[in-house]
Amino acid sequence: MRFIKKNIKDIHITDKKVLVRCDFNVPMMDGKILDDRRIQASLPTIRYILDQGGIPILVSHLGRPKGKDDRFTLKSIADCLEQKFVRKISFISDFQNSESKKQISHANRGDIFLLENIRYYSEETKNDDQFAKELADLADIYVNDAFGTSHRAHASNSGVASYIPAVSGFLLEKEINIFSNLLENPSHPVIAILGGSKVSDKVKLIENLLAKVDKLLIGGAACFTFLKAKGLEIGCSLVDDSLLDFARDIMSKHDYQIVLPKDLVITDCIDQPKNIKTVPVDEIPEGWMGVDIGPESIEQFSLYVKHAKTVIWNGPMGIFEKDIFSKGTIGVASSLKECSGETIVGGGDSAAALDKLGLIDACTHVSTGGGAALEMLEGKELPGISILLDKETAVH
Ligand code: 3PG
Repeated sequence: MRFIKKNIKDIHITDKKVLVRCDFNVPMMDGKILDDRRIQASLPTIRYILDQGGIPILVSHLGRPKGKDDRFTLKSIADCLEQKFVRKISFISDFQNSESKKQISHANRGDIFLLENIRYYSEETKNDDQFAKELADLADIYVNDAFGTSHRAHASNSGVASYIPAVSGFLLEKEINIFSNLLENPSHPVIAILGGSKVSDKVKLIENLLAKVDKLLIGGAACFTFLKAKGLEIGCSLVDDSLLDFARDIMSKHDYQIVLPKDLVITDCIDQPKNIKTVPVDEIPEGWMGVDIGPESIEQFSLYVKHAKTVIWNGPMGIFEKDIFSKGTIGVASSLKECSGETIVGGGDSAAALDKLGLIDACTHVSTGGGAALEMLEGKELPGISILLDKETAVH
């Protein structure tokens, strides 16, 4: 299935004001942007609007502030955009203010506006209708290019579409095409690698993936629920006891597809790990917990990756934030380089792991979406996408 929503290329935007929902929710420390991939990924749409003589009005959230809070200001994003475009960005600290509205309504070609963090307004996450209208009133056209936020039904990525024609940007369209292709028409063998901490977040994902993939490799803390469901002792490793029946059931139906680690790195204390060893999965002593996949598992997982035509990876293989427990994640990330097929990484933690390891270029696609990528893989319809106009709809 190809993307059937109208794209910015399908409409006329010259001299139009274009409200662009971006996802500039980037990691920051002390006002400094730590990773600007999301900003970088939004540039083609903004550039296209400028080239066509349209006026971009950029909207984004940053973090989850409760009301106005300077720690979450988008000013650093404005500075970053100024450097990228080598021109002034008009930063609008309160779009509801009549002066700001006047400034935007008198805009000229070449102007770029950036609104202050849209989550400073409580109406945003409530998808308040009046608020959405006020936002939409700033512009003639709405473009959703915030793939990372498209699983949220908020005013700036859903409500606004009730008032002005709504289309996709290039980033959003690319992400949707990649995920749709992955789910509907992938080249086999397809290997999915799941890690991260919780199984409870991934029940739907596991069910949906098992209907599509040849092998599902499970690492990270997620594997312990499966190992326990198999009857193995897992010491004090993280486990979700409420999902043991689910794990048993899914393994009985998909035994030949599910691959669990053969060995694990374990410790008796995560915070100050003095005692660390590698053991086969069925030899975790009482009081010890699994914190990474072991070398045999790395080799086993890497072999699957190497021979795959499509790989989708979500979630680290261990506590990768700690160097001593990051070998499994590094091993799997490195093996992506040896796969000649498509390698797609979805989920904020896996992308962060790749970034930390300098291995972003090892994959064909690193999604800008965390939760949104997961919901796509679960087969859910995303509200920020369903509100966009269908390809055949006429726009006047
Ligand atoms: C993300 O980082 O996943 C998106 O920007 C969405 O952020 P949210 O989870 O705060 O809605």
